[in-house]
Amino acid sequence: MKALVYEGPREVRVEDRPDAKIERATDVLVRVTTTNICGSDLHMYEGRTDMEPGRVLGHENMGEVIEVGSAVDRVRIGDLVCLPFNVSCGFCRNCERGLTAYCLTTPDTPNMAGAAYGFADMGPYDGGQADFLRVPYGDFNCLVLPQEAWERQTDYVMLSDIFPTGWHCTELADLQPGETVVIFGAGPVGLMAALSATLKSAAKILIVDRHPDRLALAEQIGAIAIDDSKVSPIDAVLEETNGLGADRGCECVGYQAHDPQGNEHPNMTLNNLVQSVKFTGSIGVVGVFITKDPQSPDPLYREGDVAFDYGAYWFKGQSMGSGQCNVKHYNRQLSGLIQQGKAKPSWIVSHELPLPQAPEGYLHFDNRDNGWTKVVLHPEGTR
Ligand SMILES: NC(=O)c1ccc[n+]([C@@H]2O[C@H](COP(=O)([O-])OP(=O)(O)OC[C@H]3O[C@@H](n4cnc5c(N)ncnc54)[C@H](O)[C@@H]3O)[C@@H](O)[C@H]2O)c1
Ligand SMILES: [Zn+2]
Ligand SMILES: [Zn+2]
Repeated sequence: MKALVYEGPREVRVEDRPDAKIERATDVLVRVTTTNICGSDLHMYEGRTDMEPGRVLGHENMGEVIEVGSAVDRVRIGDLVCLPFNVSCGFCRNCERGLTAYCLTTPDTPNMAGAAYGFADMGPYDGGQADFLRVPYGDFNCLVLPQEAWERQTDYVMLSDIFPTGWHCTELADLQPGETVVIFGAGPVGLMAALSATLKSAAKILIVDRHPDRLALAEQIGAIAIDDSKVSPIDAVLEETNGLGADRGCECVGYQAHDPQGNEHPNMTLNNLVQSVKFTGSIGVVGVFITKDPQSPDPLYREGDVAFDYGAYWFKGQSMGSGQCNVKHYNRQLSGLIQQGKAKPSWIVSHELPLPQAPEGYLHFDNRDNGWTKVVLHPEGTR
């Protein structure tokens, strides 16, 4: 099969690999029809993680079931399924509570929780930017989609990660109807947090970034764009909230947060959130932070430490939730919103490319080139 392989920093190639196959009786084998490039892939692409060269990338996957293991009961050959980026078992102590991003069964290292397809430090699972994908615990992990999803793949594929992740960020922030929320980052995840905030009837949605194309997408769904290359985002939020700060805040950038000139400050969005969220407000953090970042320009963060304004945070009585999204906890309900026409997450898709053009997609999306807001890949594998 063809697969997109990570070779080293800013080097990915489409190569021939042995076909993915059923390895355990509980596996499902999927012919991937749609798979996205994610901001999380970019941390790996840029060589800023422990990703091993030779591994297949891709954790935002959907496709057709072409084979099922002998212990699979529910999922059938021919089903169109969307796979949460989390690989989880469904029966461990964390999965039982819906915390599938912290599955205790699927990691391959001791005392670790959580696994994902094609991801650094998240288990041995190959990614789905390939013709075929092995899905462990297929009955648990496959979201079987309605027939209409065949024609609306760019909407439904967002259930694999970013739509649930944006929603999760607003859940971590405890966003309630009628409240004001400020979102840092208008990449795909920040835009999905904005979409989720509209679905939850937020009164006012403020979103901070410096890329006009991304901010324009946010404005299309009624958010107020704040361009931090032109104004202080903290001042702008305070101005929009009578000097009080937003009720809730969402971090959708992660450890490679930088100023508009491009200098990285891993604490920048967190501290901006503390300043722009009100006393007693809460903050959701879904942007990725890692435990060690030897290449960070910030000496503290090389050891994984962040100079966080804890004093101001404590003084304001704020609270914060963080981490990977438990996709399975949300994807069925969000699928219902897509099916009923209440959510159209594909509005951010700028490019649909065949898998062989994936390296081009990575290059432009990584540069945040104007107009490259979300790249969707279509493998064309046959057996
Ligand atoms: N928690 C999860 O389950 C989960 C799931 C998916 C993605 N993620 C993470 O979410 C983050 C965002 O993903 P994405 O796909 O949107 O990535 P992206 O890199 O395309 O978007 C990030 C955006 O943040 C902006 N930005 C950078 N510094 C900023 C700053 N100081 N203030 C405001 N905006 C700033 C960039 O201009 C960019 O538009 C990444 O860290 C990704 O790994 C987490
Ligand atoms: Zn992703
Ligand atoms: Zn589990």
